[in-house]
Amino acid sequence: PTLFDRIGGEAAVDAAVDLFYQKVLADERIKHFFEGVDMKRQASHQKKFLTFAFGGSAGYSGKNMRAAHKRLVEDMGLNESHFQAVMENLGATLQELGVPDDLIGEAAAIAHSTKDDVLNK
Ligand code: HEM
Repeated sequence: PTLFDRIGGEAAVDAAVDLFYQKVLADERIKHFFEGVDMKRQASHQKKFLTFAFGGSAGYSGKNMRAAHKRLVEDMGLNESHFQAVMENLGATLQELGVPDDLIGEAAAIAHSTKDDVLNK
């Protein structure tokens, strides 16, 4: 089974979204990227981010990842340090929800694989 299934499927994503969202929006290092972004897109971001991290996305497209974050890279200076901050929030979220460390490691590796696309490298 995929990591998505082992972690608990869509129910696990739903449980993680709220917590992840709170952490990201409270994090001084990155919250400014989400200012002025409408709530629906923010919620969609958290859900898509976590679904990717859990290996549950069939439709991953590097091209779309690049397009979605281009404005953030070019106009707001999105870089490695911000990416790292989001990864930390992912780890903290899953830890708080009691996900075992080996599954957290797998999720981090999957999320990390999108880095060059997100940062438009
Ligand atoms: C947009 C996924 C990293 C901030 C998006 C969208 C997706 C996505 C799928 C498009 C959402 C939509 O069209 O509704 C991911 C994944 C990431 C990642 C899989 C890494 C594994 C980041 C990071 C930041 C960030 C590091 C900032 C610290 C945003 C913002 C938007 C967005 C602000 C909305 C852009 C806008 O509405 O103009 N992301 N993201 N993302 N992402 Fe990410």
